[in-house]
Amino acid sequence: MTTGYTVSQLRAAVADAVRAPSLHNTQPWRFRLHDGGIEVAVDPLRGLPATDPTGWGARIACGAALFNLRLALAVAGTPATVRLRPYPADPDVVARLVPDVPRRPTPTEQGLYGAIAHRFSNRAPFWPDPVPAEARWRLGEAARAEQCWLELVIGASAVNALAEVARSAHRVLERDPAYVAERVEWIRSEPAPDGVPAAAGGPQSEPQDLLPQRGFGGRNRAPGRDFEPEPLVAVLGTPGNTGTDQVVAGQALQRVLLTATDAGLGVSMLSQPIEVPGAREALRMSLGRFGTPQMVMRIGYGQPGRATPRRPVDEVLDLPVVPA
Ligand SMILES: Cc1cc2nc3c(=O)[nH]c(=O)nc-3n(C[C@H](O)[C@H](O)[C@H](O)COP(=O)(O)O)c2cc1C
Repeated sequence: MTTGYTVSQLRAAVADAVRAPSLHNTQPWRFRLHDGGIEVAVDPLRGLPATDPTGWGARIACGAALFNLRLALAVAGTPATVRLRPYPADPDVVARLVPDVPRRPTPTEQGLYGAIAHRFSNRAPFWPDPVPAEARWRLGEAARAEQCWLELVIGASAVNALAEVARSAHRVLERDPAYVAERVEWIRSEPAPDGVPAAAGGPQSEPQDLLPQRGFGGRNRAPGRDFEPEPLVAVLGTPGNTGTDQVVAGQALQRVLLTATDAGLGVSMLSQPIEVPGAREALRMSLGRFGTPQMVMRIGYGQPGRATPRRPVDEVLDLPVVPA
């Protein structure tokens, strides 16, 4: 007989959920216990009106947090049955998790769970070593296990075509003063519980760079420290593009990121070509895929780095007020 989740199970799992990535590290999520179920919701107060006017990025981030939550609960022996967007009248609630039959975690769940604390966006140049076929296969399997596809962009001309689309999307975004103001607003030069620390922002971009780097106030680059000449670029996509599809994509994104971390690989995300509708369409056409691209990733062997800060768990929980 399974009853509902407890507040202590919620707290423990949410500490892992918040390690998920989010646009500009806004951490746009809330968690609550409701009728014994854990609910994950978009936090409308932490939106990015200029960068993410449709809420796509917030739903991707909440989906990624949901994947960590699922893993944490499974590894604790209390796996969940998940319903996505359970309340049509309240689409901000992206998922409701109720306890399933208790069981031991699988080795895959344990491996992915172990990667949560080590994953970070690695925006620095990678070593030129190629990603082995076995690791590439695992990344594709990770996306498929979460009902998404992962297209590895192979060959110089395909990578160049994608890079051209990404650079033009980057230019379109950078021409919008509201977008630029938001990006700058979320750069952190002092310790802070959210936003992108300048030290994590990667090196300043240079004219010879193939892929556009979002400017997060990073360091100037040492001479000769160019980006890898043949990056492994992957595009994650979904069959449809409803709000629910975007939550599904967020879960798949996190599964791919954790699989990469577990394989010793670094990843940085590039979403400019997803955020500009014309660029997203050009990307979809160039891949010749049905469905919608949801994220572009650069994958390779990188230097060690550090996880970025998160807000305390208590700040993202909605707990009922217990009368004194
Ligand atoms: C929807 C989404 C879009 C993102 N787009 C970019 C991007 O274009 N460039 C980038 O450098 N990082 C991007 N990121 C990564 C976030 O900036 C990063 O997750 C956040 O700063 C937290 O850092 P962490 O990934 O190291 O935990 C994106 C993340 C998400 C979830």
